Amino acid sequence: MSVEKIRWLQFPAAAAVKEDIYEPFSYEQSADVRRLHESLADYAATPLVSLDGMAGAGGVKAVFVKDESPRFGLKAFKGLGGTYAMFRMICKELGLDPAATAFEDLLREPYAAKIHELVFITTTDGNHGKGVSWAAKLFGCKAHVFMPVGTVEVRAQAIRDAGNADVVITDMPYDACVNYTAALAEENGWLLIQDTSWDGYEDVPLWIMRGYTTLFYEAAAQLKKAGYSQPTHIFLQAGVGAMAGAVAACAMASFPEKKPVISIVEPKEVACFYESALCGDGKPHAATGSQETIMAGLNCASPCTIAWDIIKQCASYAFACNDAVTEHGMRILAGPATGEKPVVAGESGAVTAGLLDHLLKDEKYQDLKKEMGLDENAVVLLINTEGDTDPDNYKKVLGK
Ligand SMILES: Cc1ncc(COP(=O)(O)O)c(C=O)c1O
Repeated sequence: MSVEKIRWLQFPAAAAVKEDIYEPFSYEQSADVRRLHESLADYAATPLVSLDGMAGAGGVKAVFVKDESPRFGLKAFKGLGGTYAMFRMICKELGLDPAATAFEDLLREPYAAKIHELVFITTTDGNHGKGVSWAAKLFGCKAHVFMPVGTVEVRAQAIRDAGNADVVITDMPYDACVNYTAALAEENGWLLIQDTSWDGYEDVPLWIMRGYTTLFYEAAAQLKKAGYSQPTHIFLQAGVGAMAGAVAACAMASFPEKKPVISIVEPKEVACFYESALCGDGKPHAATGSQETIMAGLNCASPCTIAWDIIKQCASYAFACNDAVTEHGMRILAGPATGEKPVVAGESGAVTAGLLDHLLKDEKYQDLKKEMGLDENAVVLLINTEGDTDPDNYKKVLGK
């Protein structure tokens, strides 16, 4: 018997759409985020890669992958959120106006000595912690990073190597680990820099999400340069959904006249957005699967509440995919059509490419493809959110 690889459903129509929640993600409102990122020595726009072979064979106009694997030398996009949120948190601690403060100001006295005393804390399944560790080194402070049960040591070591953090792999699943670090922050007066929100903890995750706007506005400019005014379809992988929520909000704010079709993509065994859409009551729900997946960055059982509020009103489709889908995506991106640039995509980065390839080509998805409007006018945007963050598994999947 063949194993069902992909489940999908349509998001229920939102009861009332609040356009103003996209506002903090607009091009104008996120200018300060770009100002910070562009002032960092390691900043460079990441590439937008055109997958002409996939587009041609799949009957769509274009497929683009925003390749975040080279971002800041961290192999993932997450440093965008960590740096911006840490900047805002430092400004708040020091009583500085972020609009009137530059990154270099913080490296000088009297601020540097005060920042040196600050301690940040977070839970991560890998890439966010790496971003926080790296940001702590940039700003000259320290971070404690906690990781859920099952984390491979190579990911913990990558966080230590990235900057200025100590790292502990706990015996707790992700959500329990988040609660634990929140309690430790409270007890010790440390600053919790968590990339998911809940009632009463929203400023920091919103800053983290706004940090991701840089990748969207780079991609929008790169698309324009390639001759496309906008994407018609965007596939976004979700863990807690902060990245997906941020990018979806950017797209809604940028293209109000012709809103792109947004699809949320998750691992089948930990699909909190899919399951919340299935419940259909407009509320976020925790995933009920086994939480076993190779997509470590997407292994988060509860939606970020800010992201949920955005996604529930602007996403059209939710997909839950098994690990074979992302393995397929990893192989496609590593060895695209002749003449195309290969993209190194890790487990959490490649699932949308694997899914899209199935939707475009497999006989059983042709009705869905048509319903989604994946036709000769479609311009599809994917985001490869990570490179080979687990190099051993990457080699295994590619058969090396
Ligand atoms: C590589 C990668 N892709 C996607 C995600 C999902 O981001 P979010 O948790 O904001 O949904 C993560 C989260 O850690 C990640 O590491």
